[in-house]
Formats: sequence, structure tokens, C-alpha cells
Amino acid sequence: MPHPFRSPAELSEGLGSVGYLADDALSMAAYLALGLNRPLLLEGANGVGKTEIAKALADLLGRDLVRLQCYEGIDASQALYDWHYARQLIDVRARESTGSADVFTRDYLLSRPLLTALEAGDRAVLLIDEIDRADDEFEAFLLELLSDFAVTIPEIGRIAASSPPLVVLTSNRTRDLHSALRRRCLYHWVGHPDAEREFQILRVRAPHIPAVLAKQVADAVQRIRALTLGSPPGVGEAIDWAGALQMVGAATLSPADAVATLSALVKDIDDQQRVAEIVDDLVPRAS
Ligand SMILES: Nc1ncnc2c1ncn2[C@@H]1O[C@H](COP(=O)(O)OP(=O)(O)O)[C@@H](O)[C@H]1O
Ligand SMILES: [Mg+2]
Repeated sequence: MPHPFRSPAELSEGLGSVGYLADDALSMAAYLALGLNRPLLLEGANGVGKTEIAKALADLLGRDLVRLQCYEGIDASQALYDWHYARQLIDVRARESTGSADVFTRDYLLSRPLLTALEAGDRAVLLIDEIDRADDEFEAFLLELLSDFAVTIPEIGRIAASSPPLVVLTSNRTRDLHSALRRRCLYHWVGHPDAEREFQILRVRAPHIPAVLAKQVADAVQRIRALTLGSPPGVGEAIDWAGALQMVGAATLSPADAVATLSALVKDIDDQQRVAEIVDDLVPRAS
């Protein structure tokens, strides 16, 4: 398949048109992943836009987003396929008289996200979200799928994608991923946006917030992230905070309003206290 975009810049522009503002390095990584048919592994802190870019890519490419949310203990029967046991049982009973009852065929498979994505091929964007929450064994299980875009089901055989789906994996880096997994992917570290990009994101995602307030929020959030908090606020929290400030009637950022609405921005008591201590520095001084 020819590359759907002529350049990383064109991809970036497309993402912008669906409300996602990517920097050059992320646009390039996504551009290469699409062109090379390689999974894209995105690592970074919470709330930097890792999940969102998979949604935006699906939107932009006009593909289905197939999402696999990982968690501790996830295994093949939740991620790939399961047998439709009830149906198998009914059909075995019904056919007892005739004697023929092969109930281990495709018809009796329940598709889970990975199988759905393989069968959809390049009509899908497969998001394997928060892979760091899954166990090592699950990561190992993904290796065949990520290198061959195929899986082997013992009773049926190999099921291969006719054309590779775009695969985006995300990790919040709560643990290290295996080098075997990393090697199969293109890797990109997603950092927090700088003040200017975050301001632009606020303008796109919360257009009802006045530009002056959005600018002050973007600047204040940069300073808050520099505090080395336990959980620094993500972009989603910045958007919520701007909304909260507007809700309490703030036309510009004041220390009192900032403290009053901190519940929308900082989700830990120690972190909130740290922010409250420097709240006067968050507001531009009148000159
Ligand atoms: N580059 C971006 N452009 C537009 N919106 C963004 C961007 N980055 C983050 N966001 C916003 O921040 C929210 C949180 O992002 P998300 O993708 O859930 O973070 P992560 O998966 O990295 O934890 C998204 O719902 C979106 O509204
Ligand atoms: Mg996420």
C-alpha cells in the first residue's frame, strides 16, 4: 500500500485537523511506523497524549480503532480469542444423532481485540494500551503477533492479517519492557508539551476558554511540572483546570482561584500542598 501521507508534515497537519497537535518528532515516528509497517511504541508520563494519538490516527485514516486495555493478569482468552462454549455445547448436543460435530472452527471463535484487528488488517488501528500493566508472559505472547501480524490457534492453524494494521503500543513506564518487544517496534518518548504547544492544545480542546486565561494556565502548568511532584499533571488535567477556572468565573488566573480549583489539576494531597506553597509564583505579577 502506498504511504497515505506524502510527508511527516502532511501527517502532522492531518492530525491537527482532527484536534491532535503533534510535535515534529512524534509526527515523524508515526509517519515511519505507517510506512515501514512497524508497531509504534510510545512511552511517557500519564496524560501526555499517548492514547489520544492512536484515536486521532484512526480518525484521520478513517479506520476502526481496536483497543486492548492491558491489566495485570490479562491473557490470550481476553486479548485474542475465546471459544463460544455455550454455542459449542448446544451444537454438539444437536448433532449427537448425526455424529459430525466439529465445534473447533472459526465459527465458534469469539474475537477479542487482537483477533479483530488481525482480521481487519489495514482497516484498523490497533491500540495496545498500557502494556506495562500486563505481565511479562503477556508481553512474550505479543511477540509473534507484532513481528508477523499473525497468530497460531492450535485447533485452527495460523491466522494472518492480509495487510498489517497500524499498531500503537503505549506504556506509562511503571516497569521496564523487554528488549525483545522494543526491538520489534519503533520507539518514541512522549514528553509533556511546552507552554506554547499546550496553549495551542487548550485552544483546540477547550475553545470556550478565553485566550488570556488559556495562556496563563499553560504557563502555570509548566511551573507546576517543574516542581518534581509525585504525579505531575497531564494535558487532560490542564484542560480540566482551565474549565474549572472558567466555571468559578475567573477571567484571569488569581492565587485564590488557583487554590480553590486545584482538585481539577493535582490529584494528590502532598502534591497539592507543594503547589499551594508556590501559588503566588504561578500568577503573572502586575508590572
Ligand atoms: N498533543 C495533543 N493534542 C491534543 N490533545 C491532547 C494532546 N495531548 C494530550 N491531549 C489531551 O490530553 C488528554 C489526555 O491524553 P491521553 O492520550 O489520555 O494521555 P496518556 O495516554 O498519555 O496518559 C486527551 O484526552 C486529550 O484531550
Ligand atoms: Mg493512556
